[in-house]
Amino acid sequence: MADITTDVLIVGTGPAGSATAALLSSYGIENMAINRYRWLANTPRAHITNQRTMEVLRDLGREVEEEAYLFATEQDLMGENVFCESLAGEELGRLRTWGTHPNSRAEHILTSPSHMNDCPQTYMEPVLFKTACSRGTQARMSTEYLSHEQDADGVTTTCRDRLSGKEFTVRSKYLVGADGGNSKVAEDLGLKMEGRMGVAGSMNIIFNADLSKYVAHRPSVLYWVLQPGAEVGGIGMGLVRMIRPWSRWLINWGYDINQPPPVVDEAFATQVARSLVGDPELQIELVDASTWTVNNMYATEMSKGRVFCMGDATHRHPPSNGLGSNTSIQDGFNLAWKLAFVLKGWAGPGLLESYDAERAPVAKQIVTRANQSIEEFGPIFQSLGLLDSVDPVKMQENMDRRCEGTPEAEDQRRALREAIAAKVYEFDAHGVEMNQRYRSSAAVTDGQPEPAFTRDPELHFEQTTWPGARLPHAWLFAEDGTRASTLDLSGHGVLTLLTGLGGEAWCEAAAEVGQALGVEIVCHVIGPRCEWQDHYGDWARAREISDSGAVLVRPDHHVAWRSEHLAADTAGELERVLRSVLDK
Ligand code: FDA
Repeated sequence: MADITTDVLIVGTGPAGSATAALLSSYGIENMAINRYRWLANTPRAHITNQRTMEVLRDLGREVEEEAYLFATEQDLMGENVFCESLAGEELGRLRTWGTHPNSRAEHILTSPSHMNDCPQTYMEPVLFKTACSRGTQARMSTEYLSHEQDADGVTTTCRDRLSGKEFTVRSKYLVGADGGNSKVAEDLGLKMEGRMGVAGSMNIIFNADLSKYVAHRPSVLYWVLQPGAEVGGIGMGLVRMIRPWSRWLINWGYDINQPPPVVDEAFATQVARSLVGDPELQIELVDASTWTVNNMYATEMSKGRVFCMGDATHRHPPSNGLGSNTSIQDGFNLAWKLAFVLKGWAGPGLLESYDAERAPVAKQIVTRANQSIEEFGPIFQSLGLLDSVDPVKMQENMDRRCEGTPEAEDQRRALREAIAAKVYEFDAHGVEMNQRYRSSAAVTDGQPEPAFTRDPELHFEQTTWPGARLPHAWLFAEDGTRASTLDLSGHGVLTLLTGLGGEAWCEAAAEVGQALGVEIVCHVIGPRCEWQDHYGDWARAREISDSGAVLVRPDHHVAWRSEHLAADTAGELERVLRSVLDK
């Protein structure tokens, strides 16, 4: 007999675990979350927060989304990504990033009701964790996962209370391993992984210092410092990252992975900070220093039986592109509704198999992209002549040569410009952030081929209602002037059917079939004099169906199915699709 029982036990209260707990509690599912430490993240590792993640928070409630914005640095202060010899020294070039280039900004605004922002993990985790606990999650801190055993009916997990040292067992219907890059749950489960850990060494130095005079005129999250002769490693060069404008900072600095991690004391941290800032008199207040390794590994399977892994447990990669915590939260958004549906009896267990099918390709994609982004710093070094010598004097001469009036120098300037511009694949890859299109049993095709991308799918998001894609965002208006996104109309733990004038029969069918299958389906009719009006015409342009057609949207905003026109047998058609999507 287990000591404690719950429906879902979540190991870890990082971005993945806290988001999953918050979503499950919002859906009314009993869950318990454990963390081996007494509190949440103590360093602000993740920070770039993309639109898709903010849509998850928005789905949890506008107050949750707004709270994250309160703690975040706004997008306008994120984007003057500077490459320089030091903050006080010469600037080598700049790239407008994170949706701050006017063209990119327009795409961001048209894509989503939510904004990209910089919300350090130390602020994001408490927002998610508080949402989870206030809505029902039983959280136990200082509680360590030790092992688990699963059988046909559930999972028995052994934990240790680290305050008393006592072990106890938790019996749950499902177990979620959101226990980070050294996941013991994934290891115990024997998940298949590809890639390798520890490809480079890096250290974080967190400090307080007012650097306004060096940065306020070119506000950014990231300042990349290239110094001839400086040891490079980890993410390739010195990085000065803003935590709070412009008083709290995090320096990333590499170390040789073949040597033991260095001891980062106040003297060493001050020396690195002075060198990257370019101010030999700089006084810093050291807040924290730690070392970590750059990894290149992803799981090719994310679950076995009743145990599911997510977040860094399944995708381990460098911070490039800022995808880690974002993807972790989005893993939770994919899994939570499926667990809820099965636990509520709204779906059969087969629905859970779609988690692997949908999220494992994303794990591979983001790990590959993040590591490729590191490689793509190479042309910048190359263009500055930093790879042609190991002699710092010679390297500096090579860099300086770009300032001459010769044809060779012009070529060098062009190469540097192009190399910096190409870093858009790391710093403004909107497509990587938003373009996930799922292929699984939980998205039923309508026989139409997948629309091809007309632009680079890594850089540009292209919306479609093709089943498996995220529902396009369009602003709609109620009679009283209230504005809501199509994403606001869907989500919130239920299935949604969107139709238009002439498609009212879909709503009757949704009520009828929903009752027959015991699943809640919300239906909205969009059109003139209807509940929601498409004044801009954006929805009509994006939906790829006729007024009388229908789009069935899953709780994670992805399209489950669509019908171009009104079907002769709406109820029969809907039942066929739902039985397939929900494994009923
Ligand atoms: P995470 O590691 O955060 O949490 C794991 C949880 O499990 C913790 O609560 C831990 O205590 C708990 N745990 C572990 N073992 C346990 C056990 N045996 N028993 C009980 N509990 C256990 N990402 C991003 O999206 N944008 C960004 O800008 C950046 N930037 C960035 C910079 C730097 C320097 C780093 C190192 C990383 C980033 N990241 C990032 C990545 C991001 O920090 C990372 O992807 C997320 O923290 C992963 O979240 P998880 O919840 O999966 O694991």
